[in-house]
Amino acid sequence: MIKGDTRVHSLYGSPVAHSLSPVIFNRTFEKLSLNRTYVPFEVSKDKLKDAVRAARTLGFDGFNVTMPHKATILEMLDELEESAEKIGSVNTVARTKSSLVGYNTDGEGAVRALRSYGFKADNKRILVLGAGGAAKALVHRLSKDNNKIMILNRTLGKARQLADDASGPGRISYGELDKASLEKSLHDTDLLVNSTPIMTCALVSQLKIPLNKLKNTDWVLDLSYDKQSEPIPARSGTISPLEMLVHQAALSYEIWLDETAPFALMRSSLVDYLGKDWK
Ligand SMILES: NC(=O)c1ccc[n+]([C@@H]2O[C@H](COP(=O)([O-])OP(=O)(O)OC[C@H]3O[C@@H](n4cnc5c(N)ncnc54)[C@H](OP(=O)(O)O)[C@@H]3O)[C@@H](O)[C@H]2O)c1
Repeated sequence: MIKGDTRVHSLYGSPVAHSLSPVIFNRTFEKLSLNRTYVPFEVSKDKLKDAVRAARTLGFDGFNVTMPHKATILEMLDELEESAEKIGSVNTVARTKSSLVGYNTDGEGAVRALRSYGFKADNKRILVLGAGGAAKALVHRLSKDNNKIMILNRTLGKARQLADDASGPGRISYGELDKASLEKSLHDTDLLVNSTPIMTCALVSQLKIPLNKLKNTDWVLDLSYDKQSEPIPARSGTISPLEMLVHQAALSYEIWLDETAPFALMRSSLVDYLGKDWK
């Protein structure tokens, strides 16, 4: 129950109506009888500054940021945790006594999700489609380990920028997301991470690549949690974007509450809510 002293967390994005983060947090808070709530707000690009000011004025106890604000919010915060600054993208904001501090939990959330399938992202060949906020977080995190990463993006300049910015022992190359380069890169890839909003099956079919070319790929992770039109024939299988969603949410919980997150409870909150739609 919301009371006079309930601590408020929120989500700023556009669109937010489809977001499953409120389900994860509110069910978890309820089950643990924590006097906290999590409210999503539809915030357009031109209203983000006002929304950040409101979070300060109203004393929100930390909030999440999603598309399209992950990069633009940087200049509105007082401090950035080192990796968020390096990545240039924030998905979690914590409030200290006097300031708002930006973090990014997407990269580590993805790595933990991969690990839960037994995929250790070290010394692997990884193909990343897209070069937006989520791709940046993933490439920065994955390049810390000794992975060979290929970035393909619709806008070549953004793929180049991301490849130039990422540091670490991983080798990074880039190209334009077109039929020839995707078809070539699919050959013997350990992991394909699709961080565009177009699902892999749809993207492959748009580029007129036969779906069975995905057989050359071991694992596929579509970050977007829309439904696939057809099953992906990857060798080992597909990694659920919902696992990543719960892991990055658990990392936000730890930043806000400064304690170990109840990961199993957060995950089961979402599994129970989605029922047969968990995938
Ligand atoms: N599962 C999770 O926990 C999780 C976490 C974070 C994000 N996500 C999901 O990941 C997706 C990307 O998020 P984001 O924050 O990275 O978004 P973003 O910053 O807007 O980046 C989107 C990327 O997709 C590319 N793109 C967009 N439309 C395309 C199209 N029609 N064809 C080919 N490429 C296209 C863009 O290319 P250009 O550079 O050419 O514009 C850009 O590289 C979203 O669906 C989001 O919901 C999921």
